[in-house]
Amino acid sequence: MQDQPQPDQGPLAPEDVCRVLTRGPVGTRRLGRLLGEALQAGDVLLLDGPLGAGKTCLTQGLAEGLGIPRQTAISSPSFTLVNQYMGRLPLAHADLYRLERPEELSELGLWEAAETGSVVVIEWSSRFPDEMPHDHLALVIALRSPRTRELTLRASGPRAKTRLVELERKLPAEWRRQ
Ligand SMILES: Nc1ncnc2c1ncn2[C@@H]1O[C@H](COP(=O)(O)OP(=O)(O)OP(=O)(O)O)[C@@H](O)[C@H]1O
Ligand SMILES: [Mg+2]
Repeated sequence: MQDQPQPDQGPLAPEDVCRVLTRGPVGTRRLGRLLGEALQAGDVLLLDGPLGAGKTCLTQGLAEGLGIPRQTAISSPSFTLVNQYMGRLPLAHADLYRLERPEELSELGLWEAAETGSVVVIEWSSRFPDEMPHDHLALVIALRSPRTRELTLRASGPRAKTRLVELERKLPAEWRRQ
């Protein structure tokens, strides 16, 4: 039944959640590119999902959507913790997988970057969920087969909701029907 609450969608209204299936890295990159085109200065995107899910792959597309030159290699910031790039807006790309204590998070300067107009993308935010800003987009990638990924994007907070609406407007028809 259409108007029954969906148990896996928490307190969010159905319109605050967007689900897309991709059948290879090109699709995930494409979704990232659409997101990168929609994001605005100060937006925070949390990226979660198991090792090899496609978080960095999505960020590569997102960087393209932000106008970061294609030849710039966007690699996993697993050891550097944060990488910074310059496009139509600056991008701060973080990976918290190896971070041990929540106090270390403040040293990364992510919130200052958001305040000064960067787009902030955080892989493995699930390591420190309580430290994340209230208003954010959260994208969880689940492996459905070696090449199929289910990407669930949730908006929390008014700013993220506005961005999700903008993204949905840009989604190709075949994704909207999934
Ligand atoms: N549909 C898909 N979407 C994204 N990546 C896919 C897909 N199908 C296969 N892949 C492959 O999965 C891998 C994803 O790697 P990626 O580094 O993006 O993962 P990650 O989530 O960032 O991992 P980590 O947690 O180690 O940082 C790539 O090798 C990519 O080619
Ligand atoms: Mg990664």
